[in-house]
Amino acid sequence: MRPIILAGSTDPFARKVYEAIGDDLRDRVRLWTQHLADPGGLEALLDTQPAVVVLGPGLVDEVSLRFAQQIDAERAEVGVVVVQNAGTNVEAALAAGVRGILSQDSDADSIRAAIEGAAASVDRYEERAQTQLRKPSVGRAKVTTVLSPKGGAGKTVLSTNLAVGLASVAPRGVVIVDLDLQFGDVAYALGLKPRHTMYDVVSTAGPLDITTLKVFLTHHSSDLYVMCAPDEPARGEMIGVEAVQQIISLLAADFDHVVVDTPAGLSEHTLATLDLSTDVIFLADMDVPSVRHLTKVIKAFDRLGMRSAERHFVLNRADARVGLTMMKVANQAGLAIDIKIPLSKQVPIALNAGSPIILSHPKNPVSRKIWEIVERLAGPQMRETRQPLKWSA
Ligand SMILES: Nc1ncnc2c1ncn2[C@@H]1O[C@H](COP(=O)(O)OP(=O)(O)O)[C@@H](O)[C@H]1O
Ligand SMILES: [Mg+2]
Repeated sequence: MRPIILAGSTDPFARKVYEAIGDDLRDRVRLWTQHLADPGGLEALLDTQPAVVVLGPGLVDEVSLRFAQQIDAERAEVGVVVVQNAGTNVEAALAAGVRGILSQDSDADSIRAAIEGAAASVDRYEERAQTQLRKPSVGRAKVTTVLSPKGGAGKTVLSTNLAVGLASVAPRGVVIVDLDLQFGDVAYALGLKPRHTMYDVVSTAGPLDITTLKVFLTHHSSDLYVMCAPDEPARGEMIGVEAVQQIISLLAADFDHVVVDTPAGLSEHTLATLDLSTDVIFLADMDVPSVRHLTKVIKAFDRLGMRSAERHFVLNRADARVGLTMMKVANQAGLAIDIKIPLSKQVPIALNAGSPIILSHPKNPVSRKIWEIVERLAGPQMRETRQPLKWSA
């Protein structure tokens, strides 16, 4: 297990930490006495592969924040907890990726919550990385997962249009899975009233095979198949991670393309799907926090060796003002924006009408950009194989 390091601590505070945290974590705690400001000081600390670094209270607040920022920049997945003296600027601390803020006088409960919380989220990441190494092999399909840390970024708009576009390249060979199990709206975006949803799949007794699974798919007039999310949030909660993995593996063995729409952030279900994905589309909105969140997710993927899926970085509602700051944030994280989808009033109109914009307005600049993504996924030969768009309102 990765260590929990107390850096720039004081004896009384270190004692409080030992007493506050659970027995299982106590063995992982190490007191770091080398100076972080010395040349190579911070690198030496990071070489221990810490899960959590607790900074202070023996450091000046600004110095703690600076180290927090550096750790965030180099190892986004490490949980940093800052122990403040005078009063850290909370906003600055959050921007530096700090997971918890304590003071010298914090009580045992707050100390335990901050440190255990930070450790738990790193341990979860670690566990995922291990599963990724034992990854089951999927079929011949391309499995493309659309991801963004924030809600409302345009995941559903992108994934549904992408699926429709792919279906024109591979008619009857594409399925979209709505993994937003509580509030999924893929069916709505496609103007469908499904008779079956994923809830029916998990309610079916007996072993699941592709023939049974296909009964629960809904057909869209573009020759696309849809695995719809349950119509009630409570039913969404009945769907386990293993079921999702099984469903996607079965579909991947039978279809050419599986497109997965996800809820905001990284749910357990999304992480499980990433293990099976050949392609990940990271979607960010036109603001710095959105890009920042995304770069953190991507850096964490890197650290954990989740590299097998091809990555595509898409900026939505982009306009000519794509801020310099934003580009800087993206570049610092080694990200190049692959595709910029513009803002268009037609998008919400098409969504509300349940008619994907690439069908209803194929010449709209948004549609053109989505075709570029289709081409990235289907390969340049798609121009020859592409069928006229099929659609009936
Ligand atoms: N390029 C765009 N231009 C204009 N509106 C957009 C664009 N992309 C998405 N939207 C709008 O943003 C809202 C959220 O989109 P949605 O796809 O539901 O996001 P998510 O699935 O990430 O929560 C919708 O009302 C949609 O119409
Ligand atoms: Mg959505």
